[in-house]
Amino acid sequence: MILVTGGAGFIGGNFVLDWLAGSDEPVLNVDKLTYAGNLDTLKSLDGDARHVFVHADIGDRALIASLLAKHQPRAVVNFAAESHVDRSIHGPGDFIQTNVVGTFNLLEAVRAYWSELPAEQKAAFRFLHVSTDEVYGTLSADDAPFAETNPYEPNSPYSASKAASDHLVRAWHHTYGLPVLTTNCSNNYGPYHFPEKLIPLVIQNALGGKPLPIYGDGQQVRDWLYVKDHCSAIRRVLEAGKVGETYNVGGWNEKPNLDVVHTICALLDELQPRGDGQSYRTQITFVQDRPGHDRRYAIDARKLERELGWKPAETFESGIRKTISWYLDNLQWVSNITSGAYREWISQQYGA
Ligand code: NAD
Ligand code: DAU
Repeated sequence: MILVTGGAGFIGGNFVLDWLAGSDEPVLNVDKLTYAGNLDTLKSLDGDARHVFVHADIGDRALIASLLAKHQPRAVVNFAAESHVDRSIHGPGDFIQTNVVGTFNLLEAVRAYWSELPAEQKAAFRFLHVSTDEVYGTLSADDAPFAETNPYEPNSPYSASKAASDHLVRAWHHTYGLPVLTTNCSNNYGPYHFPEKLIPLVIQNALGGKPLPIYGDGQQVRDWLYVKDHCSAIRRVLEAGKVGETYNVGGWNEKPNLDVVHTICALLDELQPRGDGQSYRTQITFVQDRPGHDRRYAIDARKLERELGWKPAETFESGIRKTISWYLDNLQWVSNITSGAYREWISQQYGA
């Protein structure tokens, strides 16, 4: 069995679904079910004995310890986090609590469990920490993409909290010998993405006849990776990664935000044209920039390819088409999560 934390979120949910589609090894899924956690994502696993869901906080050390003792996982994959940069600007407290203090408590519970394992299981055990490219800070247009050797220069409360968690994971390896692996991935997109993030927000607003908000000049660059490619990279690192190492994960798909939004509009114009015959592009609205907005992220994923033979399966063009088709086929999933709490966030952030 493996223990997955945050497995009701966007990437964790995709990871659990993909894992159980390709393996009979059970998953213990621990998730606090914050606004971002959604059991609808895992509905296809109802009644499947290979999926054990526990509603819990990674910061609850005693509970995590009892779950580890009971289920004896051979690995932990830690997705659980507060993940939205804009929310971290409005209220950093939850980010410190989950991403830093929560990771610390999880590491301590796992260390206690791991240190008592018989020698063979102890050697085979892995703690894989899922992190982000944002810990490296921001790039200028002509800088080389982030390599694993880049210094950490986080700029937002979110990225600072993720950087802190990466440092804790590193220290638990160097000091206590915990067999850790860390992945630092670029921007994900795909099915089950919460519609506070750029791509699902734009799809949802376009279909709802609402403005498509572009921060600042829309020329900030992100490096997009289809979520299922991120999941395959994590599986590969878990299987063959070298203990104590970090691996950057990316899709070599750098795009300015405005280009991403134009692409979404063009695909929606093709797949679900507006009733009045106009393009969804007419809904684009430039809004106030994000404070401290990082200009460019780009990932050098050559280490993962060279050492572990991983490559993404999707290009941005193939992945974004799949994503839009998925949203058009799953409008119910989106409408189920646009609860009161979600509407409150939208009005706080965009004043709409
Ligand atoms: P998400 O916000 O969609 O999901 C996070 C999940 O963690 C939710 O299900 C939530 O309920 C759960 N959670 C939050 N606090 C918890 C706690 N204290 N205890 C247990 N569960 C808790 O996030 P995501 O986009 O799926 O990101 C998952 C991980 O991947 C995060 O660590 C994030 O930093 C990292 N990451 C995300 C991206 C991206 O583009 N989304 C890219 C690189 C890395
Ligand atoms: O790089 C990896 C990171 O990618 C992850 O670690 C984070 O968890 C994830 O949320 C994501 O962070 P970003 O801030 O890059 O993603 P977001 O979707 O919020 O924004 C993408 C870009 O689009 C960013 O430059 C801000 C811009 N944007 C975003 C929103 C929500 C807009 O222009 N308008 C918007 O309404």
